[in-house]
Amino acid sequence: MSNTIVIGAQWGDEGKGKIVDLLTEKVDVVVRAQGGNNAGHTVISDGKEYILHLIPSGILWPGKMCVIGNGVVMDPVALLGEIDGLAEKGISVTPENLQISDRAHLVMPFHRQLDAFREASKGDNKIGTTKRGIGPTYGDKIDRVGFRLHDLVGDPVKFSERLHKRISDCNVLFEGAGMETLDAEESGKELLEAAERLAPYSTDTVGTLHAYMKEGRSLLFEGAQGTYLDIDQGTYPYVTSSNTTSGGACTGSGVPPQKIDRVVGVTKAYTTRVGEGPFPTQNDNLADRFHKMGREFGATTGRKRRCGWLDLVLVRYAAMVNGFDDLAITILDGLDDCEEIPICTHYELNGKKLMLPPASAEDFANVVPVYESLPGWQSDTTGVKNFEDLPANAKAYLERIEKETETRVSMVGVGPSRDQTIVR
Ligand code: IMP
Repeated sequence: MSNTIVIGAQWGDEGKGKIVDLLTEKVDVVVRAQGGNNAGHTVISDGKEYILHLIPSGILWPGKMCVIGNGVVMDPVALLGEIDGLAEKGISVTPENLQISDRAHLVMPFHRQLDAFREASKGDNKIGTTKRGIGPTYGDKIDRVGFRLHDLVGDPVKFSERLHKRISDCNVLFEGAGMETLDAEESGKELLEAAERLAPYSTDTVGTLHAYMKEGRSLLFEGAQGTYLDIDQGTYPYVTSSNTTSGGACTGSGVPPQKIDRVVGVTKAYTTRVGEGPFPTQNDNLADRFHKMGREFGATTGRKRRCGWLDLVLVRYAAMVNGFDDLAITILDGLDDCEEIPICTHYELNGKKLMLPPASAEDFANVVPVYESLPGWQSDTTGVKNFEDLPANAKAYLERIEKETETRVSMVGVGPSRDQTIVR
C-alpha cells in the first residue's frame, strides 16, 4: 500500500489531471478531497478528450474506485450532468465505481446566485470566481448553516423546508440588487429528483477509505486548484475557499497524515492564472503566443488564462507548505520555441530581497520579479521519451528548478497525451 497526494504548485491548471491519470495505473482508489465543480481536469485517454469537474479522473480507468470526500462541495445537478455526459462517451458511473461522502456540503442554486451577487457588488475588486457557488457554499459550511448530502438523501422533507426559507431570504437580497430571483418550488423539485439518483452513491467514505487501507489498497488524492488559490497559503483574497494544499487532502477525506507516503507537486514549465489577483511574472507577449496556438483557455469557464514566466518564489514556497517529495513539470514543450527563457528566482520589494511570497495582496502586486535568463533549446521535445534524450538546455532548465526548490523532478510532460510524459 502506498498513498500519494498530487497538488498544484501554482494557481491551478498545472496539468494535474494528466499526472493523476498516469499515477492511477498503480493505485486502487482515486479521491477528491476539496473544491467543487470550479475545477476542470482535462484528460486525454485513448485519443478522446474528457473534462472532469467533480468526478475523480480515475473514473476513466476500469476497475478503479473513485471517492468524493467530505471536504468537497458538490453541486448535485452538475454532478448528475457530469455522470450523464460520461455515459454518452461510454464511461459508466455507478456506485460500484463512485462513492460520495454523506458529509459533503452541497452547492445550492442560491449559492451560485450569491456568488454572482457578491462578485457584482465588489466591482473592480472582484475575485473573478468561476461563479459555481463555491465561496458561498464553503461560507455556509464554516458558518454551520450548510446543506450536506445526508440532509438531502436522509430527510428530503426537512431539507425542502430549510431550502425554501433560505431561498426566500436570499430573494429579498437579489430583488434589491435588481437580480433574478429563484423559484423555491422549482429548485426543491429539481433537488429532490437529484436526491433519488444520488442516494445510492451517498455513504460514509471515511469508513470506506479506512477499510480499503486495512486491505492494503493504495489511494491517490487528486488535488484541485493549486497552492496559490489556497484559502490560507494563497494570494488572499484572490483565492478559492478551500485548502488546496496537501493538508486539505487529509481533512477533506478523513485519512490522517501518517498514512500519506508521497506528495507530488505539479507545476507548468511557465506560469498561468485565471481570475483576478497578483501575478508578478505575467507576460502578455507569452500569453498572446499561447492563445494564438489555441492553448491556455480555462477548462471550466473557457476564459483566456493569464500567462507568464516560471516563478520559483511560488514553487519554492509550495514545496515547503505541501512537503513535496518530488515535482512533475508539465508542458515543457510550451517553451520549445523560446530563444531565451527568463526564470524568476526572487522578488524585490522596497529594496528588500524576498525569497518567499509576501502575505498582503498589495505587496504581492508591487513586488518586482528578478529574473535570470536561461538559454532556450529551440527544438521539438514532444517525441522525447527519456530524460537523458532531452536537449541539454532543457535538462539545465529542469535542474535549475530542482536546485531552487530543493525538490527532485521526477516527471516531465512534453505533450497532452498519456504517453507524452517522461518518467525519470
Ligand atoms: P472560485 O473557486 O470559483 O470561488 O474562484 C476563486 C478563484 O479561483 C478565481 O480566481 C478562479 O478563477 C480560481 N479558480 C477556481 N478553480 C480553479 C481551477 O480549477 N483552476 C484555476 N483557477 C481556478
